[in-house]
Amino acid sequence: MAETIIELKRVTRSYRRGSETVSALQDFDLQVPVGAFRAIMGPSGSGKSTLLNLVGGLDRPDAGNVVVDGAELTGMSPAQLSRFRADRIGVIFQAFNLISVLTALQNVELPLLLHSLGRARRREQALRALKLVGMDDRIHHRPAQLSGGQEQRVAVARAFATDPKVILADEPTGELDRHAADSILDLLVLLNQEFGKTILMVTHDPRAAERAGAVIHLDKGQVDRIVPREPVSEQPAGR
Ligand SMILES: Nc1ncnc2c1ncn2[C@@H]1O[C@H](COP(=O)(O)OP(=O)(O)O)[C@@H](O)[C@H]1O
Ligand SMILES: [Mg+2]
Repeated sequence: MAETIIELKRVTRSYRRGSETVSALQDFDLQVPVGAFRAIMGPSGSGKSTLLNLVGGLDRPDAGNVVVDGAELTGMSPAQLSRFRADRIGVIFQAFNLISVLTALQNVELPLLLHSLGRARRREQALRALKLVGMDDRIHHRPAQLSGGQEQRVAVARAFATDPKVILADEPTGELDRHAADSILDLLVLLNQEFGKTILMVTHDPRAAERAGAVIHLDKGQVDRIVPREPVSEQPAGR
């Protein structure tokens, strides 16, 4: 059994909406082994984004514990949470979220500013990440000069440049055509298999979910079921 890298124990998170309380996650338990690639699926409002926000230290539970890479997030101060995010978490969004006035290279260098690296080392790491995603011939392009698929590849490089343990992706292929989506999924598989990154990816797309090792289905703020990927048959079909 692989070591657990992400653990939520009896986590509850609710939001107040006027006089009402909306429960986003209730009594939620989850363990993710180190090096896993998990898709997260579920109806709108089932708590998928809340789960990613808690694991990424962008939000705190009302009750329960969130432990990521040995760090207990529940009691951390805002400064400790920022440090935790900068060191251990990479995020990829549906809408890319690149900074429009910065070049691809500057966008990827940005999270590296939170690390104590010299200028040359920072540039080297950013270039390495851009090369990995096949964008090293576009490093001085601004986001508006790139296609959606290229923007998302830069965003993958930005998430990877700091060498985080965990990568969180909220619908990373939601705005891409099939071809661009496949190339982003190929990159996530590469980061998982070659670099050992643990990945949680929210998606509505069954084809995207198929690329993960297992799918965590959420419903009404709880884990409904976890479905491992069908093993690929080594026998030719129809014998
Ligand atoms: N900031 C917020 N304020 C009020 N309610 C929220 C907020 N964020 C999420 N919720 C509610 O929590 C529930 C879960 O939301 P979310 O985690 O965004 O679901 P999903 O990503 O699966 O669509 C929903 O009912 C949603 O309306
Ligand atoms: Mg969501």
